[in-house]
Amino acid sequence: MRVVSGIQPTGKPHLGNYLGAIVNYVRLQDMAHEAGGECYIFLADLHAISQPHDPAELTAATREMVATLVACGVDPGKTVLFNQAQVPAHAEMQWLLNGTARMGWLGRMTQWKDKAGKNREGQSVALFTYPVLQAADVLLYQATHVPVGEDQKQHLELARDIAQKFNNDFCPGDAPLFTLPEPYIPPAAARIMSLRDGTAKMSKSDPSDMSRISLTDDADTIMKKVKKAKTDPEPLPSDEKGLEGRAEARNLVTIYGALTGQSVEEVLRDHGGQGFGAFKPALGEVLIEALGPINARFADLSQDREALDAILARGAAQARERARDTLDTAYEALGLVRG
Ligand code: TYM
Repeated sequence: MRVVSGIQPTGKPHLGNYLGAIVNYVRLQDMAHEAGGECYIFLADLHAISQPHDPAELTAATREMVATLVACGVDPGKTVLFNQAQVPAHAEMQWLLNGTARMGWLGRMTQWKDKAGKNREGQSVALFTYPVLQAADVLLYQATHVPVGEDQKQHLELARDIAQKFNNDFCPGDAPLFTLPEPYIPPAAARIMSLRDGTAKMSKSDPSDMSRISLTDDADTIMKKVKKAKTDPEPLPSDEKGLEGRAEARNLVTIYGALTGQSVEEVLRDHGGQGFGAFKPALGEVLIEALGPINARFADLSQDREALDAILARGAAQARERARDTLDTAYEALGLVRG
């Protein structure tokens, strides 16, 4: 079992990142540890330069993200925790895979289409080739399980296509180089939506801070955001069918269930018939209870810059070591002479 996943250190991590991905980093880290497998979690700082960014903010956000992940339970004793920029094998492997990835495959990526919009010509080359770097990230470590939210599924399918084509083209016989990675998507919280618009995903790049709960929000802020969340005037239905066409209500019920370990049906069994005047404070309490301890640990950890840098340095040294074999074999398979 090889668990591999990444998160961009841009902006503050939010509830969508937490429920869609980080909770599963911790769950799979522990499963891998018990099964004698390995877990790699990295900050995708090389991905973060694919869009306009402020260098000083990227540096600060990188340290902040390490502190957040550790506060959420990612344990550097069980997980190789690092940032891509300290492991050149990621960029090297991307270049090697650029020979295999097809323009047409990348052009079909919905994230590329969404982010580029009508201005494709004005985008960085990095935004277009971003999914090839993502493929390199997971293929380098022979990932089997990749914990991600629903929005990354297509990128993982592309990673499988690239791996398969590389194996077919350059690894004759029965010695394929790359393992085909499987996305590990939480059924209940695959897509947490914005608090202001139930049809848009909760995102770090949404201009409105009220659209998301950040993992570092304090109790008052959390309660305020939940109470201001967009909803409709109807009370909650008593079964899931009653949520049809009520995206905002569904989102709040989903969040409640994901945090309490209940299914949507179970939440509605307990809260059906309740108006949002009663349900929102209940949800706020559940959120405060779940995020409070993370917040406290984050506040402690984020003070100690040296300790955070040491975690990254140690993780990067381990990652460089573990990436070497696959990278060397890829160079060799392509016929590249390296002395
Ligand atoms: P990023 O930084 O946008 O998000 C990190 C993780 O959080 C998940 N996520 C969500 N899940 C549910 N609901 C939401 N509203 C929500 N918003 C974000 C994402 O699916 C992701 O799992 N390209 C990736 C980073 C990356 C990566 C990788 C991931 C780079 N290399 C290799 C896996 C494997 C990204 O930008 O995630």
